[in-house]
Amino acid sequence: MIKSLRGMNDILREDYERFTYFISLATEVAQNYGFHFIETPLLEETALFKRSVGESSDIVGKEMYQFIDKGENDVSLRPEGTAGVVRAFVEQKLDRAGGIHRFFYYGSMFRYERPQKGRLRQFHQFGVESFGVASVYEDATMIMMIADILKRCGIGYRLQINSLGDQNCMPEYRNALVSFIESIENKICEDCQRRKSTNPIRVLDCKNEHCQSLYENAPKLINSLCKECESDFNKLKQILNDNGVAFEIDTNLVRGLDYYSKTAFEFVSDNIGSQSAIAGGGRYDRLVEFLDGRPTPAVGFAMGIERLMELIVMPEITRKGYYIGAMDTEAVDLVVQLTQIKRNKTKVTCDYKAKSLKNHLKAADKVHARFCCVIGENERNDNTIWVKDLETKTEKVMKLKDF
Ligand code: HAM
Repeated sequence: MIKSLRGMNDILREDYERFTYFISLATEVAQNYGFHFIETPLLEETALFKRSVGESSDIVGKEMYQFIDKGENDVSLRPEGTAGVVRAFVEQKLDRAGGIHRFFYYGSMFRYERPQKGRLRQFHQFGVESFGVASVYEDATMIMMIADILKRCGIGYRLQINSLGDQNCMPEYRNALVSFIESIENKICEDCQRRKSTNPIRVLDCKNEHCQSLYENAPKLINSLCKECESDFNKLKQILNDNGVAFEIDTNLVRGLDYYSKTAFEFVSDNIGSQSAIAGGGRYDRLVEFLDGRPTPAVGFAMGIERLMELIVMPEITRKGYYIGAMDTEAVDLVVQLTQIKRNKTKVTCDYKAKSLKNHLKAADKVHARFCCVIGENERNDNTIWVKDLETKTEKVMKLKDF
């Protein structure tokens, strides 16, 4: 039997209900915040991800589904959504149009990671990207938007924030950090030794406990921020406080993608095991420029839908629409005709087999229909239909012309 690939799941039945419930709820919130839907291709030139997510990141360095297509092009399945949206933004010349552009998207992302609970190779993100707003109010609004979505889903969280500085303060900090790493170089893991020359700040979120204990004494970026970054970070904290969004400052939060500057944030849940990040994002003011666009400030986030599906509190199922069944085979054609008419307006389930009333009632209950409607010999002769409201438990016989 052919099975799905490791780390790639089918989504159906109860999971599909959770998936679509989340998407419709997150879409409504995104629209309330003035975002518009964007769809970008799953497959892009590999160079796009190298130049945005970064060659030194694990995502590009180790986890891409990268291959040469039949036309000899080096292409990759998207490991995340931001790069494609920025590419589209520049390609559609929206960077030249000026103004504010806000997009949301959802869909599959692909990372060749080691699968485990909450970590898949094909997973789904819901994300938003905002272009053209340099104000830190927009960063705060992104965070509040996630908080809104999670609240509506009944999901508790912890929010961690940090500032990664900008081109004024980051280089100086990086030099200080490299000097510190050199002072303990023979004590840190091989990955961190490699990171020292590729992307030193990534050592700060190394998962190795021994490394982490050594980095406790590392210089803190938060103490090296330039005036502008510091004032933005203070403002961000103030806005979150004013709006009742609790947060923790995590000076080691550096994110796994290279394009961030200034604000970085992550939402984590304590109820889903080790893969606890349910959403993450931040500001990326240089990325549009890196991808050949005009300098444009930008900020965004993405949420991991599979992880959220584990946590989401689903609303009680409400009965909806009709179930229509026949008690004898002669009534089946009529049942199908009535079903077709009613389907213009609402959800209708119909059974092509003649069954007893008891079995029809059971089937109607199973599909959560509001009305169970049945036609037998008597109803056929009288041009009527028997209808039971499964919510109020009342029943009646109706003329077909009134049904
Ligand atoms: P990210 O933190 O790499 O950010 O991913 C966002 C979310 O996707 C994570 O918090 C997690 O919930 C989910 N996720 C990531 N990898 C997996 C996996 N292997 N299996 C299941 N879920 C996963 C980004 O992707 C950025 N593009 C976010 C962003 C948008 N920043 C600015 N704009």
